[in-house]
Amino acid sequence: MASMPQPEPQEKLSAILAISRKMNSERDLGTLLDVVAREATDLLGCERASIFILDRERNELWSKVALGSEEILRFDARLGIAGSTVSTGETINVRDAYSDPRFYGVIDGQTGYRTRNLLALPLRNQHGEIIGAFEVLNKRTGTFHQRDEESLAALAAHAAIAVETAQLVGELRRSQDELVQQNAHLWREVESKYSSHGIIGTGHKIQQVVRLIDRIRDSLVNVLITGESGTGKELVAKAVHYTSPRARRPFVALNCAALPETLLESELFGIEKGVATGVQSRMGQFQKAEGGTLFLDEIGDLSLTAQAKILRVLQERVLERVGGRTSIPVDVRLLAATNKDLESEIAKGQFREDLYYRIKVIHIHMPPLREIREEIPLLANHFLKDYCRESGRSPMEFTGDVLRRLTTAAWPGNARQLRNEVVRLAACARQSVIAEDDLWEGLPAAAAGAPTEAKVAGQTQSLKKAIEDLERRMIAEALQGTRNNQQQAARILGLSRQGLINKMKRYGISG
Ligand SMILES: Nc1ncnc2c1ncn2[C@@H]1O[C@H](COP(=O)(O)OP(=O)(O)O)[C@@H](O)[C@H]1O
Ligand SMILES: [Mg+2]
Repeated sequence: MASMPQPEPQEKLSAILAISRKMNSERDLGTLLDVVAREATDLLGCERASIFILDRERNELWSKVALGSEEILRFDARLGIAGSTVSTGETINVRDAYSDPRFYGVIDGQTGYRTRNLLALPLRNQHGEIIGAFEVLNKRTGTFHQRDEESLAALAAHAAIAVETAQLVGELRRSQDELVQQNAHLWREVESKYSSHGIIGTGHKIQQVVRLIDRIRDSLVNVLITGESGTGKELVAKAVHYTSPRARRPFVALNCAALPETLLESELFGIEKGVATGVQSRMGQFQKAEGGTLFLDEIGDLSLTAQAKILRVLQERVLERVGGRTSIPVDVRLLAATNKDLESEIAKGQFREDLYYRIKVIHIHMPPLREIREEIPLLANHFLKDYCRESGRSPMEFTGDVLRRLTTAAWPGNARQLRNEVVRLAACARQSVIAEDDLWEGLPAAAAGAPTEAKVAGQTQSLKKAIEDLERRMIAEALQGTRNNQQQAARILGLSRQGLINKMKRYGISG
């Protein structure tokens, strides 16, 4: 074996400093251990070098020692020369490995390498605590000397600091990963709360809405949500946002009807300092929703001027603050809601047609509660469960009679009114079962044209009769919805055209 010239002390010192610089710029522990091993073999003129890291919790030493692959070697921290140097804190220079009782030959067995002689010393951090061991194996010429011990000690002092730094960096990275995971978990909770599943309803009208929300989940189209007040428009808007790729960006809701014209513009677009005395510069809702979704509720109440400004933001993707001179780029998805009939507003010249088509790429209509009475028991129970959970009360339930009364009441305020009444009932109830006695005087009277209690309950009438009633109603609705097109109506109902005609005859419905 060719003998390498041993560097002189002065050269050694500068070599160690150069190595130290290399080590300190390495933050990944695995790579650092490789760098240290490589440099140590050169510096000490030996065949191999390895660092063993002490895992105090398990009282084990581990090393990246070559096991052929990227495998890690782990063993009891009391074993071998590395173990002895860690437990005694002494430098150990072994001239003939296999005749030393402390030598742990198993490692040679695993690596397929034969150790002749070795030099080991502990790695200490700045507080003098032992954090591992440094070993060099098989001096190329002869055995390790006093000068090698000094060089290795100098190198070990630098290596220990670099190792500890890399360990700390690794720990920080791991705890950051944990935080990221926890955060993702919290987001999933928010998402499941507002995902389509937050929208209750088993009938086809609500299911259609849920399916539509699912279908547009990957796109960022503008959506117009129509329906009377309290029908769940904002709930739908949140579901659309929280199932979209923007779920982790802000959802900002603004009620256009709640603000006077004079404030609306600065609320939407923001305002620059000094527009009027005492005015500080402020960010508008558009900018607060940057990267996310802006939900404009009651968009039908916007003035024509405000409509023109919003249209411009949607077209050009920039806005100007009130009193500002620069254009600020914005990236916002717009969801809008209204309880007005925008087409008749357009006819009256009160809503811009071009804005209408921009916001109505997808249209979702929320039916009034009186059209989906079949959902009332489910909704009432859902609101009751929510109330009990939020107020920390043990679960409550309604008797069948109460549910029947709720199902036939008028509900001009739709699901919101139902929710308020359920909360009121639950808050006043003395027992966990809410019975008819608990009913209040203010229950909205059963609506004219609403199904009778018997129809809903199916108690005093037969199931057959109830199904017939339902069929009759569905057929009438389908015909109405298709302007008496029997072919289309039959398809909607899942019937053949002849099947539909037969049923129409049976129920006395004229085509
Ligand atoms: N289909 C539904 N499933 C569950 N909750 C609903 C449903 N429809 C309405 N709600 C609830 O009723 C209340 C009113 O809904 P909201 O979205 O504010 O109505 P809108 O915006 O149309 O006035 C909210 O508490 C909402 O969660
Ligand atoms: Mg609303």
